[in-house]
Amino acid sequence: MVFYIVNLILSPHVENTKFYLIIKIIFVSNFPSIFIHSLDISLALHYNAFIMCGIVGCIGTKKAKPILLDGLRRLEYRGYDSAGLAVWDGQTVNLAKTKGRVADLAELVREQALAGTVGIAHTRWATHGEPSAKNAHPQTDEDKNVFVVHNGIVENYKPLKQKLEQLGHCFQSETDTEVLAHLVEHFLKQGADLEHAVKQALRRVRGTYAVLVMAASEPDTLIAARFSSPLRIGMADGQIIVASDPSAILSHTTQVITLSDGEVATINRGGYTITNITNDEVINKDVDAIEWDVSAINKGAFEHFMLKEIFEQPETLQNSFRGRLDPESGLAVLGGLESVAEQLRRIKRIHIVACGTAYHAGLIGEYMLEEYAGIPVEVGIGSEFRYRNAVLDPENDVVLVISQSGETADTLAAVREAKEKGVLSLGIVNVVGSTIAQETKAGVYNHAGPEIGVASTKVFVSQLAVLALLTIFLGRQRQMSLVVGKRIAQALAALPEQIQAILNQSEAIKKMARAYSGYKDFFYLGRKYNFPIAIEGALKLKEITYRHAEGGPSGELKHGPLAMIDESFPTVFICPQDSVYDKNVSNMEEVRARHGRIIAVATEGNGEVKSLAQDVIYIPKTLEMLTPILSVVPLQLFAYHMARELGLDIDKPRNIAKSATVE
Ligand code: G6P
Repeated sequence: MVFYIVNLILSPHVENTKFYLIIKIIFVSNFPSIFIHSLDISLALHYNAFIMCGIVGCIGTKKAKPILLDGLRRLEYRGYDSAGLAVWDGQTVNLAKTKGRVADLAELVREQALAGTVGIAHTRWATHGEPSAKNAHPQTDEDKNVFVVHNGIVENYKPLKQKLEQLGHCFQSETDTEVLAHLVEHFLKQGADLEHAVKQALRRVRGTYAVLVMAASEPDTLIAARFSSPLRIGMADGQIIVASDPSAILSHTTQVITLSDGEVATINRGGYTITNITNDEVINKDVDAIEWDVSAINKGAFEHFMLKEIFEQPETLQNSFRGRLDPESGLAVLGGLESVAEQLRRIKRIHIVACGTAYHAGLIGEYMLEEYAGIPVEVGIGSEFRYRNAVLDPENDVVLVISQSGETADTLAAVREAKEKGVLSLGIVNVVGSTIAQETKAGVYNHAGPEIGVASTKVFVSQLAVLALLTIFLGRQRQMSLVVGKRIAQALAALPEQIQAILNQSEAIKKMARAYSGYKDFFYLGRKYNFPIAIEGALKLKEITYRHAEGGPSGELKHGPLAMIDESFPTVFICPQDSVYDKNVSNMEEVRARHGRIIAVATEGNGEVKSLAQDVIYIPKTLEMLTPILSVVPLQLFAYHMARELGLDIDKPRNIAKSATVE
């Protein structure tokens, strides 16, 4: 039965994702989890691919190279681990690809004339295969005739690749996209024109795509097609620009056609035709005028990447959960841990190691894992862990590192120390193929997409979400009941909507931040699950407003810090209605008695806090262990709006970098 369903899922007849999901639900609820993992990884990657990578292409009278490079720069926020372009120069298609940023690609082609006026380009955030020139797009066939840039995922690329290999095709990269180039070439050789070769190839693909294809054998044509991943065609004077995001089009024109699923555009210098992928029926599309401020396009409608990333958090959580969370069976499916699942069943202690914001996530993980999985946890800062000769037991311990970039030197040192001492190392990492991802034995990707603002926001909530998934995963291997597993999973599933409710208060938080922007010192206090949120909230304020902020556990107030409190030193209390709520209220009374101002983050419907605090921000009710995922959001917004009020460089605060790759 299992094999029947696996075959059905992989069959070319299963053409759309909805059907795949229905099958998956039946599958998940009826079969052992071990059979589910690989499918879930692919599903998770597949959805993530929507928000990553950028496509741009052009055909017309102007030189392609500057148009493509400019377009890629505007798309870089969507992916920046590798980039590439292909330009037809009248004789041949010139291909240039590199690991790294668009600036590296521009440097690579600086000396090349690339005089042609037709080309395609791509900026990538790796999902299949590590970031490298080989895995960058455009991908091509072995004759270097067909060139493809692709956003999305070809879920059935393995069986397709096998069939093509049997037909004599040789593959160069680890990407799913390369299969498309070979498939198109296969149909061209059978006599199809480029449009129909692309259509035939895509009809055999299960997954999602936005693709742009060119071929040396038909150089004055670009073929664009989409299924579940955006693609737009901009109509400028004498020039057609195709891109996955309007930001790459809007400096040329505001007249844009948006392709729908199942539509294929055949574009040449004279214009374009849009047809249905299955029956060639011509489709007449309206040209829309897009009214975006061109100067803001890199960040979409947002003034800063940090604000954009704060607002992306509901979607970030969905992407981190996708294919991994099963509220019905109270399970977390973590494909990246499959290879060590049996070893994890036996571990007796977890050492979490991380730096900065990731360390704060680790502190919250400690509370989750001890309370719900019953495993003792120690949390260490990378720069300390590497020098303190931690006592590690190879039989019973595991080192779990958390890192957005996967490149932080001190965190990486912990991985190497674990290896040295023969201890299993795991990672929670956002950047696919990063050094930490490669050097840890197993792990879980955040799938949060590129985070550009130096102050980490969306990846922090994703780290907390993954830690909650890990808690379910390890807890269910032990004593966690089905009922508890379900309760956590259901509460996790509700979080994206609940975060949205907090984001809707952004304007009110802005007013509050403005009112406090004259203060120079701030305290942030919380207890239990929200003690780490107090230090994270203080860190957010420090790093982008340069104000003095201290965070700590509320219970420590009386052991010294209370001496500093007066009317010029406001305190932010994170005090949701949880098991330590009453204790927090007592601390608030202490601050009030010293004439300290209070800003409180409280649970919706709580009237008591209002009588103690000058200002209150409400968050929706959730399980105690998940409150940090909600309570951090108003603190991110508070720091952001204050920094904006102070006119500071929010995305690139002075003195700090996004990733600390040296000690
Ligand atoms: C830098 C960043 C912080 C980040 C820390 C750890 O200091 O400014 O925002 O939390 O590194 O980075 P990682 O990439 O390992 O999560």
